Amino acid sequence: MTLKIRIAHPSDLPALASLHSVCFDEQWSASGLGQLLAHPGTSGLVAEDAGVRGFVLVRVAADEAEILSLAVHPLWRRQGLGRELLGAAARLASHQGGRILILEVAAANFAARQLYDRLGFQQAGLRRAYYEPGEKGDAFILKRPLPLAPTRETG
Ligand SMILES: CC(C)(COP(=O)(O)OP(=O)(O)OC[C@H]1O[C@@H](n2cnc3c(N)ncnc32)[C@H](O)[C@@H]1OP(=O)(O)O)[C@@H](O)C(=O)NCCC(=O)NCCS
Repeated sequence: MTLKIRIAHPSDLPALASLHSVCFDEQWSASGLGQLLAHPGTSGLVAEDAGVRGFVLVRVAADEAEILSLAVHPLWRRQGLGRELLGAAARLASHQGGRILILEVAAANFAARQLYDRLGFQQAGLRRAYYEPGEKGDAFILKRPLPLAPTRETG
């Protein structure tokens, strides 16, 4: 079955909550995710074949778009899914008027930082000890203009 990226439906919420719990320490319930997605300007995209393999949540407010969450199941990582999901979220945000894309990433999250670096995100801020005490708990605020320029990765 071919993997496709599509808009998330309410029926996806249990699968998204389950995937979130595999990918993050913090648990997000299906109802909590539903409330998040009900917020104006918020969209979810899922990568799916026989099941949900990854998802991204993006919120657009005026010309600013924010990635609220991005996750790929551990068994499906390093196959370009994270990059594809982010690219799809960026396109959606652009179509909705977003001109800048921002997100937050933990200093200790090497994989995500590599991904964002390759997509041209730049540091716009730092929240010290945001996730936990010490440098590893720092959070970087990253941003880049939209649309994503075609690159080796996205084009
Ligand atoms: C971050 C995450 C979404 C990346 O998803 P992914 O599908 O594995 O990413 P991709 O395959 O699209 O990787 C694209 C590029 O990012 C970089 N990258 C991704 N994972 C990496 C890793 N573990 N180590 C080094 N570089 C990595 C590489 O440059 C990679 O390109 P390459 O495979 O050609 O070298 C995934 O690791 C994940 O879900 N992590 C847990 C949740 C999380 O941290 N989300 C982000 C919160 S800010």
